[in-house]
Amino acid sequence: MATDFTEETAADAVVDSFAKTPDPRLRELLSGLVGHLHAFVRETEPTIAEWERAIEFLTATGQKCDDERQEFILLSDVLGFSSLVDLINAADGATESTVLGPFYVPGAPVRAMGEQLGRPEDGSPTLVRGRVTDPAGDPLDGASLDVWQSSSNGLYDTQDPRQPPFNLRGVFVTGPDGLYQFRTVRPASYPVPTDGPVGDLLRGAGRHNWRAAHIHAIVSAPGRRPVTTHIFDAENPYLDSDTVFGVKDSLVRPFRPAGPGDPPDVSYVTEMDFSLAAQDDG
Ligand SMILES: [Fe+2]
Repeated sequence: MATDFTEETAADAVVDSFAKTPDPRLRELLSGLVGHLHAFVRETEPTIAEWERAIEFLTATGQKCDDERQEFILLSDVLGFSSLVDLINAADGATESTVLGPFYVPGAPVRAMGEQLGRPEDGSPTLVRGRVTDPAGDPLDGASLDVWQSSSNGLYDTQDPRQPPFNLRGVFVTGPDGLYQFRTVRPASYPVPTDGPVGDLLRGAGRHNWRAAHIHAIVSAPGRRPVTTHIFDAENPYLDSDTVFGVKDSLVRPFRPAGPGDPPDVSYVTEMDFSLAAQDDG
């Protein structure tokens, strides 16, 4: 006899349909997803029109994606999912991670230590330097920093036809001392793109779309868990309301004016050390 599909039995009926999922982790994820989605629907009681609007929204989010634009990551970011997943996966003793964001492009050129990432018109010349270590503070040889940021106009190279490909992007590899340095520009706040469905969402909610100014980095080393993170500018006005919830206190650094003893070709200096946990550390 068929079980009556009612508001009371619906969630269990669907969860039960996944009971024979061979992979236990997949079964757990599907059961949890169905349980929470059904609870959401019972609680909020969407109309048919609202359900159709939700389907349209998700469809448009997928259709907005291409090789260089990832609207689903942006949606995850503005809902705080990306930062929550980062928090749950953090490794003890390692530099805190934060959102990857939608503008990462793999394959940036490997550059000489100290090299300038951008052009003079990209902003105030800034030296970024520090050391990559393990959690005990011992330097990591062969650590790779894959860094990228927007220009002072708030645009990444992939958004701005006036910037050459891989402008303000580069990979730096440490030697046995773990030290790194590179020249870039002081980062600017920028608005996340609002020409897609995520923009409709932010406008509908009366939320601003500004990111606190930052430099992105993916730091990795042999045998170490890579960290995807940012360096935030301590003087930025959006540190408390970053639209993607990416700011963590441990990632905020002063960008101090260059002084005696600093290279003469930079206006600001910021220092950031990175720590990477062993590959098998939880
Ligand atoms: Fe960014």
